[in-house]
Amino acid sequence: MCGIFAYCSYLCEKDRRHICEVLCNGLARLEYRGYDSAGIGIDGDSPDSPTILFKQVGKVASLRKLISQHASDADQSSNEAAASDAKEATNVGIVDMGKTFITQTSMAHTRWATHGQPSPLNCHPHTSDKTNEFSLVHNGIITNYKEIKLVLEKRGYTFHTDTDTEAVAVLCKYIYDSQPNKRLNFTDLIKAVIKELEGSFAFVFKSQHFPDEIVAARRGSPLLVGVKTDRKLKVDFVDVELPTADTTEKLSNDTENGGLLTVPGGNAEPKLRRSQSRAFLSEDGLPQPIEFFVASDASAVIEHTKRVLYLEDDDIAHISEGELHIHRLRKDDGLSSVRAIETLEIELAEIMKGQFDHFMQKEIYEQPESVVNTMRGRINFDSRTVTLGGLKAYLPVIRRCRRLLFVACGTSYHSCIAVRPVFEELTEIPVAVELASDFLDRKTPVFRDDVAIFVSQSGETADTILAMRYCLERGALCLGVVNTVGSTLSRESHAGIHINAGPEIGVASTKAYTSQYVALVMMALQLSDDSISKEERRQQIIDGLHEIPAQIKGVLMMDKALQQLAKETLAKEKSLLIMGRGYQFATCLEGALKIKEVSYMHSEGILAGELKHGPLALIDEHLPVIFIMTQDSLYPKVQSALAQVTARKGQPIIICNDDDTTISEQYRTIRVPLTVDCLQGLINVLPLQLLSYHLAIMNGVDVDFPRNLAKSVTVE
Ligand code: F6R
Repeated sequence: MCGIFAYCSYLCEKDRRHICEVLCNGLARLEYRGYDSAGIGIDGDSPDSPTILFKQVGKVASLRKLISQHASDADQSSNEAAASDAKEATNVGIVDMGKTFITQTSMAHTRWATHGQPSPLNCHPHTSDKTNEFSLVHNGIITNYKEIKLVLEKRGYTFHTDTDTEAVAVLCKYIYDSQPNKRLNFTDLIKAVIKELEGSFAFVFKSQHFPDEIVAARRGSPLLVGVKTDRKLKVDFVDVELPTADTTEKLSNDTENGGLLTVPGGNAEPKLRRSQSRAFLSEDGLPQPIEFFVASDASAVIEHTKRVLYLEDDDIAHISEGELHIHRLRKDDGLSSVRAIETLEIELAEIMKGQFDHFMQKEIYEQPESVVNTMRGRINFDSRTVTLGGLKAYLPVIRRCRRLLFVACGTSYHSCIAVRPVFEELTEIPVAVELASDFLDRKTPVFRDDVAIFVSQSGETADTILAMRYCLERGALCLGVVNTVGSTLSRESHAGIHINAGPEIGVASTKAYTSQYVALVMMALQLSDDSISKEERRQQIIDGLHEIPAQIKGVLMMDKALQQLAKETLAKEKSLLIMGRGYQFATCLEGALKIKEVSYMHSEGILAGELKHGPLALIDEHLPVIFIMTQDSLYPKVQSALAQVTARKGQPIIICNDDDTTISEQYRTIRVPLTVDCLQGLINVLPLQLLSYHLAIMNGVDVDFPRNLAKSVTVE
């Protein structure tokens, strides 16, 4: 959901071409988060000249083209093309790409539209005015932007876009213009701005009034700072600089002038304790070359550096003169007084497509390894025991709880549905599975003796985070099952499990689903390891898990046949039903979600037990139906649903086990290996993932960038 990238280099000579390249490469890595338009803001030719903006609808490739059309060494024909560009796409004519900078700050953004259509005008960076005094990039939503706009309009400021973000840019200018002696430093100015805002956000700000500085801030939307330097950092943390008193008051309580905005103590000396950032001190006291990369996602910085610092909510990061300072919006809020500079463990190769055509395809094929990584160091297959270190201290509390409450969205919700039966069976604790948005809408009763488990690949999904905060407030133990290390969910939950599936870049979640599934099964196993009566069943499941990676590999070898099936039987269809029951209900839901989101074909997952309560009316010889009919205790019931469908001339495609001889040869089958009933969904989902991938390609969909979607939905 939108991507932010900013680049600051200090005492390193870089030309403009290189800077644009770094920004566009950063955006390309973030493109999976939003891809309807993209833009950059770079330094002008002198410190007081306006920030140069390039904005373009479409993907980063279109932005690159726009930039090259404006390069001074572009050929004549492309200069002509530049002249005919939409006016708002850039504020400059031809730009000297060879101009070098010893120190510079620049920013970039890839957008997933929430307010206003994708257009160069609505694309970020947004600016305060025609001369770009303040420019900024923003992820998230400002919920009180209309009120801010109204007050600023009354004071003569004008707005040109449909976005909430522009209100923040103009607010920067208003506060700057209104202070008597222009004494606020950049950090204090942005603090005053942030105090006016409601909603969730991550920002990077740049200003002509503060050349070579940027300020970044976050609340509810992730942001991290990568640090690249040739020398070792003095210490592995940055001190947080707390205000000795609030230097700014929340301004919106002033009702006199439209209910908003009085200007902070412009005459007062800034009351911040200025301390030198210890991490960036050099041995000889001389300034050292350094580069900083601010991003909403680690994948954008990994090619430059692995040293990163994650910002917390209400942190204000100020980068200037080769130093990074972290300030807090308010004092005494109980957070740690340092931010650690961590070393990322992901490798560049993990975020590259390698030999694959798409990330989705690569991630489907990674599943034999990703499920192993989820189990690594946690299951001992010799002693048949499970140890989840992060949960150990909480096991007695979890075992005593009155209810296990699973909360998630989309695919992550399906992984919770998939494991509900095994949790009920092994723990004998009542289990509820909730969609995060609905859970919040209903203001679901939550009690201190509930244990709430939040499942999220990104760890940044707004609905899931809000649901977790709701449960935290009500005193429930909150556990996170998360893929992204350092994400909000993993930091704010009491404890949890990292699923260790590796970065998932494809918008459609695939390997995260199977890893969530495995992680949750391991959790159920560990919770029940005090029960002798469940021992045999536990051992059966652990043995089953041991075989899963090889079985997944086997199913992936059917890819060509599935491609053929997609082409011959499904590609021209408008709709597809997927039916099953019991453990396979989750597989039906997940298969249908994959098919609709990447191939745009309507698809529904149907609980076979519900067939005669409505869906049967849809069945005729034209509607394809995939039946999931692998062997478990519900097999006879699914067989009877199949009979009802074929009696109405339905033409099923049946996912069944390798050795199932009961299925009539007149039906198409997809044969998969048999495993333990509660693990069978891990195997059965794979043909559906592959079918959805092939259907998407056949329908001409850019499968890693399906329309209207984005990875990591950080808005409600
Ligand atoms: C579907 C998909 C989404 C996500 C959902 C939750 O392929 O990816 O349905 O599963 O947006 O995202 P996370 O797991 O990041 O909370």
